[in-house]
Amino acid sequence: MTMVVIDYLAKWGHLLAGITWIGLLYYFNFVQTEYFKEADADARTDAFVKLAPRALWWFRWGAMLTLLTGLMMLLYRHPGWTVDITIGSVMAILMFLNVWLIIWPNQKILIASNEQVKGGGEVLPEAAAAAPKAALASRTNTLFSIPMLYFMGSSAHLPNGSIGGNMTALIIILIIIAAVELNAIFGKPGPIATIKGVITSGFVLWAVLLGLLLIFPAGSPAPAAAPETTVEPAPVVEAAPAMPAEEPPPMMEEAAPTEEAAPAEAPAAMDSTAPEEEAAAEAESAAMDEAAPPPEAAPVVDPDPMG
Ligand code: HEM
Repeated sequence: MTMVVIDYLAKWGHLLAGITWIGLLYYFNFVQTEYFKEADADARTDAFVKLAPRALWWFRWGAMLTLLTGLMMLLYRHPGWTVDITIGSVMAILMFLNVWLIIWPNQKILIASNEQVKGGGEVLPEAAAAAPKAALASRTNTLFSIPMLYFMGSSAHLPNGSIGGNMTALIIILIIIAAVELNAIFGKPGPIATIKGVITSGFVLWAVLLGLLLIFPAGSPAPAAAPETTVEPAPVVEAAPAMPAEEPPPMMEEAAPTEEAAPAEAPAAMDSTAPEEEAAAEAESAAMDEAAPPPEAAPVVDPDPMG
């Protein structure tokens, strides 16, 4: 139970931190930059010195906590890693790096420059180059956030297959993501310069990535031996809602044979032991070893299809 609770607490912290981070990202991109375009010079300088640093503090530490809790959850995963969490995590980790290695260092230059201006001094010469660098990385993060959040959530709720199956789509997707990130470092804003452009591009990127997964389904790797139990026993009742029994996504039918087998096999085995304990004992124990661990062994009915 302890591991399940820790995992859930990490998820709770992850969502709180993620909301803080991405909420401020949207504030910067959709609200603050537009205000700065229209603000009086004095008001703008004042906001840069007094408002932006506060917002950036919550922004970058929100990103840090999101990463740490996300990595914590990744460490708890056992075999059965989905392509979804791979795509979502790769994008989110790049976003984190953009925050700490591009946005924040360049924003520090802008804040210092505005502090100097407020004190009656001159604009720092580096400020002219710092602004577009921070802006492009921030716009790229806004672009990434749309498909990132889809895949982060689809890992547990609408997965597109597992790592180790057909990797064609994932490889193309990772190349596309790398190209977008390279553009964030060396390129130009292009269509993501405007709010409408970045939102539209985010949904286009999402459609392209999901389309690739549908064209080249990832499926699942060949079934491996049932994983060693590392998680505390999870009662069958807790496990049931994990994968909607009525209508599993097509790929899940083949994606997790152990998940399919477990709920059917385990109760049947338990029923059969009751009346003919002695006769069935040996065969049953062999069958259970092969087909599915006893119901106490959580992984076969793990609520989390991600792995
Ligand atoms: C910074 C790197 C990040 C990593 C390594 C990471 C990792 C993870 C992992 C491992 C999970 C669990 C997936 C599962 O249960 O199958 C998860 C879930 C999730 N993450 Fe992230 N994440 C990151 C960033 C973000 C960000 C920025 C957001 C935005 C708010 C976010 C939102 C979510 C959501 C909504 C879920 C789904 C929870 C659920 O379906 O129960 N993550 N993340």
